[in-house]
Amino acid sequence: MVIVLLGPPGAGKGTQAKNIVSKYGITHISTGEIFRRHIEDKTPLGILSGEYINKGQLVPDGVTISIVKDRIMESDCNRGFLMDGFPRTVAQADAFFEILLSAGKVLDHVINIDVTEEKLLKRLTGRRICTVCGASFHVVFNPPKVEDQCDFCQGKLTQRSDDSMDAVTNRLNIYRKQTEPLIEYYKGKKLLRVINGEHNPNKVFEDICNVLGAEMDDLFKIK
Ligand code: AP5
Ligand code: MG
Ligand code: ZN
Repeated sequence: MVIVLLGPPGAGKGTQAKNIVSKYGITHISTGEIFRRHIEDKTPLGILSGEYINKGQLVPDGVTISIVKDRIMESDCNRGFLMDGFPRTVAQADAFFEILLSAGKVLDHVINIDVTEEKLLKRLTGRRICTVCGASFHVVFNPPKVEDQCDFCQGKLTQRSDDSMDAVTNRLNIYRKQTEPLIEYYKGKKLLRVINGEHNPNKVFEDICNVLGAEMDDLFKIK
């Protein structure tokens, strides 16, 4: 199973990706997480990508595509994988089809999580991340039990460097110009399913499972 999760910054891609991969036993690939790990480890890729990410800009297509190409060839992707935050441009989407073709894989589902911009701003500026295990919280919508402390590992919570107002504004502008066109792109290929991402996270997950479940049933009927 190969799934693409589309959606603007703050739509809940990361939140839902965790649920989906654990239910279906597939691998979660977040290009944003890969970059953040390199930034933390101060690798050459981290130094390069950090310059773009901290300003809320996209990392150049060539760099991102080559990372994805290598990542999906790893053995934990054999059973299937979910892309969170990739593709983000038409060039990436075209390249992704080619990568899948040469790996003998097919894109099964594209799920777009739809949320209005006003809500995205609140979600991004209120998000807090655990510095130890990476778990994600929100000061209002998903508060930790103890302020600034992770529920799972007691690590300290922090704000992502690209969740500042300036970077968020850039990210949303870039989303509209470069990523939103992918909605029509995948609609044209009859792969797009839209989910209302404004419900609570459990309801959003239930709706995603219904879409995936129905599509899986269809596949079985064809066989
Ligand atoms: P990336 O890490 O992918 O960030 P993003 O797409 O901007 O999305 P976020 O991770 O901010 O949001 P999310 O949709 O995962 O929402 P979350 O679940 O956390 O990319 C970061 C950067 O890396 C990019 O800007 C770019 O520079 C670079 N990059 C990455 N991929 C790239 C690519 N392909 N090409 C080029 N550059 C690339 O939820 C957000 C908050 O809302 C949380 O606090 C959460 O608790 C809360 N929340 C979630 N769901 C709900 C709900 N249903 N109701 C209420 N609150 C909710
Ligand atoms: Mg995310
Ligand atoms: Zn933690």
